[in-house]
This record gives sequence, structure tokens and C-alpha cells, in this order.
Amino acid sequence: MAFPRHRPRRLRTTPALRRLVAETTLEPRQLVLPMFVADGISESRPIASMPGVVQHTRDSLRRAAADAVAAGVGGLMLFGVPRDEDKDPTGSVGVAEDGILNVALRDLASDLGDDTVLMADTCLDEFTDHGHCGVLDSAGRVDNDLTNKRYVELAVAQADSGAHVVGPSGMMDGQVAAIRDGLDAAGHTDTVILAYAAKFASGFYGPFREAVGSSLRGDRRTYQQNPGNAREALHEVELDIDEGADIVMVKPAMGYLDVVRAAADLSPVPVAAYQVSGEYSMISAAAANDWIDLQTVALETLTSIRRAGADIVLTYWAADVAGWLA
Ligand code: PBG
Repeated sequence: MAFPRHRPRRLRTTPALRRLVAETTLEPRQLVLPMFVADGISESRPIASMPGVVQHTRDSLRRAAADAVAAGVGGLMLFGVPRDEDKDPTGSVGVAEDGILNVALRDLASDLGDDTVLMADTCLDEFTDHGHCGVLDSAGRVDNDLTNKRYVELAVAQADSGAHVVGPSGMMDGQVAAIRDGLDAAGHTDTVILAYAAKFASGFYGPFREAVGSSLRGDRRTYQQNPGNAREALHEVELDIDEGADIVMVKPAMGYLDVVRAAADLSPVPVAAYQVSGEYSMISAAAANDWIDLQTVALETLTSIRRAGADIVLTYWAADVAGWLA
């Protein structure tokens, strides 16, 4: 095939022409802002490895959430950081009505109502004293089915507290089906499940572990996926859709754009991708050295994730992007 008369630069001549032929959109409503809320602090606390991201107090969370929603972000994903002394082997503080995540969900639900999409991380790692995403058996292994029972309690507590969306991120087998059944039985038939369907055992979660004060020693490789496994990732996506996931997510994003594309091609439901803490920190650090331009690179990575097929992107820059694009 030859196109002797084609000069692709012709369509790049003016900003208006470039805008007219742009294939990929990046809009604030497609972005979800992950936020951290900590118990037992009186002022918001910076996260050293994630410049610009903080652990919020309940009050500072309310203000920052209102600002992000006013700026136009599509949703908020909340992570709770309990006090160390409240962590236990089964993550009870995640289920407790007065646990920090559930309290913060009620705050935001009452402030924001249906003006935004309120999401919660449905996982145990922030709440357990051993830092694993599940409950351990007597040999110290993560017990799949016992963990799913706990996830149901977590999801119901989060839905009771006002979450529109629960986000099971622990990669247990059957977690989506268990949570769907549990939510329905509790009358939460409208609560959406955003399933972390293909979640890889990634070094890029490093800064997040500081962000939530993780107690984990060891790794998550018995439940998170091998970074080299693409076919298995698509199997996980299909299983989650079959179990009732309303949205499926691939995580991390940038190193896994092939998986995002393949998931987008097969999925009948919306696909999300999570630009995780390490992706944010890496770019922030390079920009702080003036090695790259933060805004240019952040927008380029998010556009690339959209181009790969993600309908929704979770990013710590969600509110910033809304400002940049305004
Ligand atoms: C698990 C969870 C993690 C992240 C989101 N949900 C940590 C992990 O799996 O180790 C990581 C997010 C990020 O790195 O930005 N609750």
C-alpha cells in the first residue's frame, strides 16, 4: 500500500487542525482520585515518597474531596489508614462502623451525596497487623475463602457507609461473586463492583506502602499476578466479569498497557487502569530534578493509558489534571 500524495504533517499544521483529528480524549470526568484518610492525626501528613499527596485528617479530606469534585474529577477512591494499635489479624477496624474508612465515607457521602462517585478500597492490608490482604491460616498462608467472608463484611460496611462503588483489590479467587451475593443479600443491589481484576505483584506499589503505613513483611506473590503473565490476566478479567464485576481494572498501568488493550478488546464492561504510586513518584522525582516536565509527562502517560483502551484512569494527578485542562 502506497500513499504517494499523503503528507501526514499537513494535519498537524495548526492547533485547531491537531485538535480536530485528535484520536484520544483525556477529560477530568474519566479520572478517579485516590485519597488517604488517617485516624489519630490532627494535621494532614505529607507522604515523603509521593510529593503532593498526603494522609488526610477527616476535615482536610472533606475539603480536598469537595475541591476535587468541584474541579470535575469523575470519582474518589478512598483508602483508610487506621492507628497501628487498632490493627489485628483479621482487619476488624475495616469492618467497624467507627473505623476510619467507614467514618470518612459517611462524611463524604453526607457532604457530596450523588455529586460524585464515591469508591472504597475493599481490602484488608491497611487494617491487618501482618499487612496481608487476607486472613491467615494456621500455617501463615492467606486463606482464600475465609478472606472472602471478611471481604463481604467489608463491602457491606462500606456500602452501608455510603460508598457507591466497592473496589475489591485483594485478588482472592471468587471474591467478586462472594461480594455481589453479600451486597445483594444486604439490600445493596445498586452498589457497583469495580474489580481489581488483573493486579500484578509490582514493585511500583512501594510508595503506597508508606502512604498507608503498611505492616507487610514479605510479598503478595501468592495472590497477585506474575508480571509476565498476560494470558492469565485476561482469564482473571473474564472470571471477574462472569462473577458480576461492573467495571474491571488493570494495575499498574504504564508497564501493562498491552494488558489494558487486550482487556478493553474483550470486555463488555468499562475498563479502568490504575496509575499507581510508583508511577507517580518516578515522574515526580524526575520532574523535581528538572529532568522532565511534570505536566507534559503526566498528561502524556494518562493519554497513553486512555489510548491503550482504559475508559477510566485512577491517578494521583486527577485533580491537578482537571486544573491543567481547565
Ligand atoms: C491493596 C492496594 C494496594 C494498592 C491499591 N490497593 C497495595 C498493594 O496491593 O500492595 C496500590 C496502589 C498504589 O501503589 O498506588 N489494598
